[in-house]
Amino acid sequence: MPGIVIVGTQLGDEAKGKITDLLAENADCIVRFNGGANAGHTVIVEGKTYKFHLIPSGVLHGKRLYLGNGVVVDPEVLIEELEGLKREGFQPDLHISDRAHVVFSFHKLEDGLQERFKGNLRAGTTKRGIGPTYADKAARFGIRIADLLDEEALKTKLDVLADLKQKIINQVYGEDIKLDKKEILEKASMFGRAISDYVCDVSMEINEALDEGKTVIFEGAQGTLLDIDHGVYPYGTSSSTIAGGACIGAGVSPKRIDKIIGVMKAYTSRVGTGPLPTELKDDIGKRIREVGKEYGTTTGRPRRVGWLDLVQVKYSARLNGIDELAITKLDVLSGINPLKICVKYRCGNKMLDRIPANIHTFEKCEPVYEELEGWKADVNWRRIVNEGYEALPEQAKEYIRKIEEHVKLPVSIISVGPERRETIILNE
Ligand code: IMP
Repeated sequence: MPGIVIVGTQLGDEAKGKITDLLAENADCIVRFNGGANAGHTVIVEGKTYKFHLIPSGVLHGKRLYLGNGVVVDPEVLIEELEGLKREGFQPDLHISDRAHVVFSFHKLEDGLQERFKGNLRAGTTKRGIGPTYADKAARFGIRIADLLDEEALKTKLDVLADLKQKIINQVYGEDIKLDKKEILEKASMFGRAISDYVCDVSMEINEALDEGKTVIFEGAQGTLLDIDHGVYPYGTSSSTIAGGACIGAGVSPKRIDKIIGVMKAYTSRVGTGPLPTELKDDIGKRIREVGKEYGTTTGRPRRVGWLDLVQVKYSARLNGIDELAITKLDVLSGINPLKICVKYRCGNKMLDRIPANIHTFEKCEPVYEELEGWKADVNWRRIVNEGYEALPEQAKEYIRKIEEHVKLPVSIISVGPERRETIILNE
């Protein structure tokens, strides 16, 4: 099973990092194909927590790691993560695409200014410069990793880009900030020298690995509902977060993908703005946020939480061509009775079974719920993990069966705690 894509089926933060780490044990290469340091992938092993923004989650297994061309690389974050890992005794076997685009400090500044200008249309970004970097890529102003290794190209391109940004900052946003072009160039060159050994043609290397029968995991960042084309526009991110994005963002053919795993949290969460039909603003919402530790990994912001929205997951199943589902954070719902799952939206006098493109229509959508009996609060998850699926409370099994029935996909992994070992793998 060589090419496996792991994607988020909701709005990010589905615990893809944990699932990737789990599956990385039997893989050879782990590839990030989209997004940048806006991602926050958490892996917990033996009580120790690791948080990655750029480094693929397979790092703890010592696997070969790739940042594909579709990733936007923030040099400062990358160097910090590499150094942190080295301090912990890891030697990341990292390979960075020469075609990946570089995030500069002015992109982060512009991100904040754009958000302020947009007012109610702001997405509540992570302010990591993601949108402005992808915008420059599409407008062909962008600076790629390959340029960092070529002093002449870097100087020529940065000259134009920094002048453009200076004008935008002063004349569009009216900010009295002066960019130091010399310092920006020096920092970029320094970064180029620091990472030159990691830079390669990632597409070529991954295709070779697949030719040799190696297992390659493509680790998606963010979630399907944040996708630039298919997400809740304009409240999503700026990259292709869906399985198809793995092909574009890593340089592999769709023919090379053998399996697509959709990661879904047992409930809904989102950071940032935008419609969220099943949002819970009551005590149940507070409880889920606290028990599930729903605070942004990248920004620390409290996440908005809600009942499980299967309209989202069904939409994701179609867009990604998901083969199987990994359900995470099932334990967080313990002690809540009854539980609700949204199976459709009511929009005026119409029923909807998909995410509408029109944001005003989406804002008017009301969830249609099915109610299920919850399970007790004091569940011995350790015992259940040891004994397997059959040991789950009957109500939890029914919850999973309902998901399988509505989404028409099998569940292959159930995560009941943040630790790597707190997982039930089905049909092993
Ligand atoms: P950006 O990707 O920083 O531009 O943010 C755009 C939108 O996507 C905002 O609503 C963010 O909160 C959201 N977002 C970006 N990255 C993540 C993530 O890794 N998890 C969850 N939400 C994210």
